[in-house]
Amino acid sequence: MIPAWLWLLCFSIPQALPEAQTTELYVEVPENYGGNFPLYLTKLPLPREEAEGQIVLSGNLGMAAEGPFAVDPESSFLLVTRALDREEQAEYQLQVTLETEDGHVLWGPQPVLVHVKDENDQVKDMGDQASGHQATATIDVFIVENTWLPLDPVHLAENLKVPYPHHISQVHWSGGDVHYHLESQPPGPFDVDAEGKLYVTMELDRETQAEYLLQVWAQNTHGEDYTEPLELQVVVMDENDNVPVCSPRDPPISIPELSPPGTKVTRLLAEDMDAPGSPNSHVVYRLLSPEPKETEGRAFELDSTSGSVTLGALPFHAGQNILLQVLAVDLGGAEGGLSSTCEVTVTITDINDHAPEFITSQIEPISLPEDTKPGTLVATLMATDADLDPTFRLMNFAIEAGNVDGTFGLDWEPDSGHVQLRLLKNLSFETAPSHKLVVVVQSVAEMVGPGPSPGATATVTVLVERVLPPPKLDQESYEASIPVSTPAGSLLLTIQPLDPMSSPLRFSLVNDSEGWLCIKEVSGEVHTARPLQGAQPGDMYTVLVEAQDADEPTLSTFVTLVIHFLKAHSAPAPTLALVPTRHLCTPRKNHGVVVSGPSEDVDLADGHGPYSFALGLNPTVQRDWHIQAFNGSHAYLTLALHWVEPREYLVPVIINHNAQMWQLLVRVIVCRCNVEGQCMRKVGRMKGMPTKLSAVGILVGTLLAIGIFLILIFTHLTLARKKDLDQPVDSVPLKAAV
Ligand SMILES: *[C@@H]1O[C@H](CO)[C@@H](O)[C@H](O)[C@H]1NC(C)=O
Ligand SMILES: *[C@@H]1O[C@H](CO)[C@@H](O)[C@H](O)[C@H]1NC(C)=O
Ligand SMILES: *[C@@H]1O[C@H](CO)[C@@H](O)[C@H](O)[C@H]1NC(C)=O
Repeated sequence: MIPAWLWLLCFSIPQALPEAQTTELYVEVPENYGGNFPLYLTKLPLPREEAEGQIVLSGNLGMAAEGPFAVDPESSFLLVTRALDREEQAEYQLQVTLETEDGHVLWGPQPVLVHVKDENDQVKDMGDQASGHQATATIDVFIVENTWLPLDPVHLAENLKVPYPHHISQVHWSGGDVHYHLESQPPGPFDVDAEGKLYVTMELDRETQAEYLLQVWAQNTHGEDYTEPLELQVVVMDENDNVPVCSPRDPPISIPELSPPGTKVTRLLAEDMDAPGSPNSHVVYRLLSPEPKETEGRAFELDSTSGSVTLGALPFHAGQNILLQVLAVDLGGAEGGLSSTCEVTVTITDINDHAPEFITSQIEPISLPEDTKPGTLVATLMATDADLDPTFRLMNFAIEAGNVDGTFGLDWEPDSGHVQLRLLKNLSFETAPSHKLVVVVQSVAEMVGPGPSPGATATVTVLVERVLPPPKLDQESYEASIPVSTPAGSLLLTIQPLDPMSSPLRFSLVNDSEGWLCIKEVSGEVHTARPLQGAQPGDMYTVLVEAQDADEPTLSTFVTLVIHFLKAHSAPAPTLALVPTRHLCTPRKNHGVVVSGPSEDVDLADGHGPYSFALGLNPTVQRDWHIQAFNGSHAYLTLALHWVEPREYLVPVIINHNAQMWQLLVRVIVCRCNVEGQCMRKVGRMKGMPTKLSAVGILVGTLLAIGIFLILIFTHLTLARKKDLDQPVDSVPLKAAV
């Protein structure tokens, strides 16, 4: 049977007791071994640490120097280099020592007995018998020592700077024709050569793979395994080749202002890829920025171990952006540690801790006329809020005090920062000559911290101004129709106050661009100032007249005066009317002469008054005499000078009525006054002896008087009665007349 033939002896029996070196090692070697040499016999229990010594083999080595035994210094295996013959020598008594160069024994001696075994070859025995079955087979039987032993784990530093491939271990299959096959779990840069030397072919990185399990198979040339694979654990040892890495930059961290010290801000975390739990991955933190200020204290506190950041004692204000820079360093912060800087932005957010305030809390008193229209803007108050957040700057306003009957109101936009104080109702000086309004401003959002400040109220004082009505005139507008031939000095009309008892007025023409008119400042009489050259019949001339209150010049009223121009009279010569002689004494006394307008019975008069009276244009007459309208139909003629020469005068008086005009010649005899203020007798005598001039005057007057006698007899003028010269009736005391 072939398996019976197969006597495979593949082991020897090493009896090694490392402690007892003197115990003899016993090794059996088959005689005439036909396999490959050297044949490994046994591993000597040499101490590892004294490997620098020299292994010396002695004893009955047979052929002395060329003895068949040797020791492999690398693997410390005893080996035999050629076949042994039992007949030549059955046993070898060997001794192994480890010695220094100078012969000092470091280890040993270790006795080894090598026994050459007698091999009784059965194949040969049977072959001698002719009747025996024959089978021809060549079987190589190798009797070898078992060197396929478990391997110790290999520790390899990562990033190792050595020439590659780098030898890390060795396997050995004692039988011949072996082929080694290596597999790495997970796949790694490992290799095995034909002699069973294991190599790493490139630098390892612990962070990529910290451990490998290598399996080495011993296979025959057909790739069949001789036995189970040997396993080798390769452990990659850590090197501090990884920098602590900060977590990617976070969005800014918001911390409300006024947060107390100790408030948690953030926790920085830097990861180190080096071996966990080793110093290489032990990260500590150091605050780089903001640097603590000695005087003011720290803005942030950093826990160097945990990386947690809290607020320090240094206060912040809203809107601040602080770049927090923290150094993360490994090796627990020791010298040579790798580091990186972690950055986090901290934003201090606003809280509503500022109350709005008025910029000016005391506003100058504001004067409002009594007739100010409701809706009028009285004042604009400005307010500010020191908060940053727009929602914390929104304001509400209210009138807290002084707004009786809601006379005033407020108008505002919450985000505008100003409020408009408006009048809502009519003011009344009589009811309330002044108003003191207290306006208050408040934050729309709820406040944090302190209450409202004193600046939250503003006081507005409104003074009501009495408004007096402007002067009122007796007509809303005035009109006059005059011929274009109207001479200068003609009275056109009189503008009068509606209420004669009201305060006196001052009249003026606003835009008499032609200069045709003039107005008496006090009396309001409007005259032609010059001949109306350029005026065309049918034309209209409008002039604005201002009537001012003499006591309150700010009060004034304006009225239009329209002049209609008519055709010139066909008989332009003024009608002369001779009135009876009057007497006045000089120096001037308070006496005047009543001059009457024409009666309605007269043809010239086309209706009732008013008539207007003016002196003729003669400058001497204008200088010496004064005429003043008294009522619609009568006027007073008085001396304008204190003294005029006593004699008889014919004073021309122009009367206007409804654009018609007459001229009266008023005969006045001026005499010297006696003590009673009346004409002296002497003056009376003068009348009897008229001068040449007066004689001519009388003659002319008489002639004219005859001419218009019929007119005069219809007048109501009181004719001068025959009177004593000492008592002229037509001289009327002025004060009595007015
Ligand atoms: C306010 O005054 C105006 C004129 O001054 C008047 O027309 C109006 O009726 C008044 N309003 C009230 C409510 O008295
Ligand atoms: C004077 O003013 C009034 C009112 O404005 C106007 O109607 C008139 O034509 C003006 N008169 C002259 C002469 O400019
Ligand atoms: C004007 O005054 C005179 C003198 O006093 C008087 O006779 C006359 O009736 C008055 N006329 C009018 C319209 O009042």
